[in-house]
Amino acid sequence: MLALGIETSCDETAAAVLRDDRTNLSNVVLSQIDEHRPYGGVVPEIAARSHLDHIDGLIAQALDEAGIGFDALDGVAATAGPGLIGGVMVGLMAGKAIALVHGLPFAAVHHMRAHALTPRLTDGIDFPYLALLVSGGHSLLCAVAGPDDFRPYGSTVDDAVGEAFDKSAKLMGLGYPGGPALERAAQGGDPGRFDLPRPMLGRDNLDFSFSGLKTAVRHQVAALGRTGEARDAAALRDLAAAFQAAVGDVLADRAARALETFRAQTGQAGPLVVAGGVAANRALRERLGAVAESAGARLVAPPPALCTDNAAMIAWAGIERLRLGLDDPLDFAPRPRWPLEELAEELARRANAGAAG
Ligand code: KG4
Ligand code: ZN
Repeated sequence: MLALGIETSCDETAAAVLRDDRTNLSNVVLSQIDEHRPYGGVVPEIAARSHLDHIDGLIAQALDEAGIGFDALDGVAATAGPGLIGGVMVGLMAGKAIALVHGLPFAAVHHMRAHALTPRLTDGIDFPYLALLVSGGHSLLCAVAGPDDFRPYGSTVDDAVGEAFDKSAKLMGLGYPGGPALERAAQGGDPGRFDLPRPMLGRDNLDFSFSGLKTAVRHQVAALGRTGEARDAAALRDLAAAFQAAVGDVLADRAARALETFRAQTGQAGPLVVAGGVAANRALRERLGAVAESAGARLVAPPPALCTDNAAMIAWAGIERLRLGLDDPLDFAPRPRWPLEELAEELARRANAGAAG
C-alpha cells in the first residue's frame, strides 16, 4: 500500500509518500518560521494563507521525489485536527479532493495520534506501549493499544510543555521558535544556580502542570533585569539549564509513575515512547532514557526530524487505519479541538449507523 500524507495543522506545510512496509519514499517539510518570526509566535491567519500558497507545490514535490504519480497511490491521509482551523482546512480539503478525483480511500488523521504512532514507523514496535506526547499544544501520557485505541493516563492541567518552552524562551529574549533556542541556550549552563519549581512532582495522579514554571521564569527574568543581568549570556545559560532540568524532573517523575501503572495494567515493562516536537530535545531524551532503564523498559524516541511536525507520520497513521479498512467519509469536518480518546465513541457511532443502514 502506498499512501500520501498531508500535514498543515500548525506552522509546517508537509507532504510525504510512504509504503506500508515502513519505507519512506519522500518526506518534504516547509517551515513557516521566517513568516512568523517578526510576530514572536505563530499567527494563525498567516499560517493558513501560507499553507494555501504552498500545499499544491509540496504535494507535487512529494510525489516527484517518490517517483510516482497520483495513479500509483492506494490511499490519502490528511490531518483533520487538532490544530489551527484555517490550516487544518487547507490540508484536509487538499487530501479530500485528491481522494475524490482519484477514487482513493481517505483517512482523516488525528495529529497527536500520528505523533504517538510514529515509533511504529521508525522502530516497528508492537502494541501496546506507553506514550509520552509532548508538543506545542499538548502534554499527555497514554497507553496505546491499537491505531485507534488510546487510553489516557493524564495530561497537562494548564500549559503544554512546548508552550512552556516557547513562552519561557520569549521571556528570556531567546526568540522564536523557543524550544530549540532554549535548548541551545542551555548548553553548558549550571542548572543549580536558579531554584525553579517542579510542579506536580510526586502527586499521585499522572497529570502535568507547567504554567507555574513559566511564571517562575518570568520572576527570575525580572530579578535579573533589576541586577542588570537580563542580557548576560551566562545568566541566561544558567536559567535555560535550570528550566530544562525542572522540566526533565517533572517528565521523569510522571513517566516513571506511568510506567508503574502501565506494568500493572498490561504486565509489560514498556516500551516507553516519547514523541511530539519537545521529544527532539536531547537533554530530555537522555533523562527519559534513564527513567526507562531503571524501570527495565526500553525508550523509543523517533529521530528529531520525525518528532517535530511532518507528513510521514500522517501518511503512516493513515496506513495504520486504511489497512484495517478504517477509512473516513469525504464530509469529515475539520476538528480544531479533538480529544485523543474520542475514537472509541466514533467507532460505536459508525457501527450503529451501519446497523441502522
Ligand atoms: O509537534 P510540534 O512540532 O508541533 C505541535 O504539534 O505543536 O511541537 C512543537 C513544539 C514547540 O513548542 C517547540 O518549541 C517544541 O515543540 N520543540 C522543542 C524542541 N524542538 C521543538 N522543545 C524543546 N527542545 C527542542 N529541541
Ligand atoms: Zn505536532
